[in-house]
Amino acid sequence: MNAKITRLKRYILIYGISRAICKALGRMKLPYVRSLKIRRGRSVGLIGCGNFAFSTISFFVSKNQGKVFGSCFDINSENASFFARFYGYKQAASLDELLKDDLTKIVYIASNHATHAEYAMRVMENKKSAYIEKPITVTYDELVQLTKAKSKYSGTLYAGYNRPFSRALQIIKSRLDTTAIHPFTVNFTVCGHKIEEGHWYRDAKEGSRILANLAHWIDLSVHLFQQRSKMPSVIHIAIAYSNPNTPSDNISFVFTTDLHDLIVFTFTSRSEPLEGVNETILLQSGDITAKIDDFRELQLWDLNTYKKYKFRPKDAGHESAVLQPFRTTPSRNWKEVELSALLILFIEKMVSNKSSNASFDIRQEVETFENATKAERSQ
Ligand SMILES: NC(=O)c1ccc[n+]([C@@H]2O[C@H](COP(=O)([O-])OP(=O)(O)OC[C@H]3O[C@@H](n4cnc5c(N)ncnc54)[C@H](O)[C@@H]3O)[C@@H](O)[C@H]2O)c1
Repeated sequence: MNAKITRLKRYILIYGISRAICKALGRMKLPYVRSLKIRRGRSVGLIGCGNFAFSTISFFVSKNQGKVFGSCFDINSENASFFARFYGYKQAASLDELLKDDLTKIVYIASNHATHAEYAMRVMENKKSAYIEKPITVTYDELVQLTKAKSKYSGTLYAGYNRPFSRALQIIKSRLDTTAIHPFTVNFTVCGHKIEEGHWYRDAKEGSRILANLAHWIDLSVHLFQQRSKMPSVIHIAIAYSNPNTPSDNISFVFTTDLHDLIVFTFTSRSEPLEGVNETILLQSGDITAKIDDFRELQLWDLNTYKKYKFRPKDAGHESAVLQPFRTTPSRNWKEVELSALLILFIEKMVSNKSSNASFDIRQEVETFENATKAERSQ
């Protein structure tokens, strides 16, 4: 009990009172509590009514858009009913009811990883847009199929990789000198959740923690590379495993590129972090040095200046990422998301083979992928 109270107090300080309470309520699923917002339209659908959909997706949509909730679906009907009651979703629906609901324009997908791509394709087929939580797909073939669906149907695809939307990243990007090709040195050190055997994340069909967690920082690296006018041609990847039996836990890997970038990732998950996922990011490029402390603080140095930014509540970019479908400003470029998905799947394969060294040839990988999507389209 004491640990729960300590956690709640820390969450209130980090996330603010309403989101901290929301995170706690989402875990308790009390039958009688409901949110107090007024109803306005029914354009938002949801597949997968779990913790993330409760304390992040529905929380931020409701906070910014009011009650725009149509149908929600979960294979666990109690979870869906809880969402309908708490957030005022019009109905805890079957998948077909949700897909046929004409008022629904955007469907958030926050179910288990292995279902994301298939649900996204069904959403697109039904003339709606899809917001896909990470990972976008768990296999290469699914990425090919999803790309084919994207070119065939008119709906928009959004990706739930949130860190590029954080204020810390926005500030850093505004300070990068993109007129020259300065190499990046970046160090990501991440304390992830301790995930027990038997948790659905551990099911082989859901992919490893590369897809489930490290995808965030791999994606962020691709986003940083895209800030320059030239992409590297090749990313050399070296992986160090601490335990070959659980290869994607307690792992380090390094990217070096032909543009002389050096990106280091360390992911540790030996005990449960009291305050949730905790990360530090050190970045150097040109004259800029930046240090992000868990998206609660950013320190930024260049040759002559120093500035410290505090983010209260913590801002890892979740709110802005979730609100992409409602913004008039451009969302993440989907080609960039596709490239990051290809790199993530490449590293996933390295880890499943327990391989330590490989090179990701960007041009060749993109060309092969484009040929595969063309071949698919012409079939
Ligand atoms: N962006 C982030 O920072 C972040 C953080 C946490 C989780 N997530 C992602 O959110 C998603 C959900 O994670 P979570 O932590 O909420 O897990 P969770 O276990 O709390 O929720 C998953 C929900 O999906 C439902 N579900 C399972 N199989 C389903 C199926 N076939 N069809 C429909 N619903 C199904 C479950 O019943 C459950 O309600 C995952 O993709 C996860 O990676 C993202």
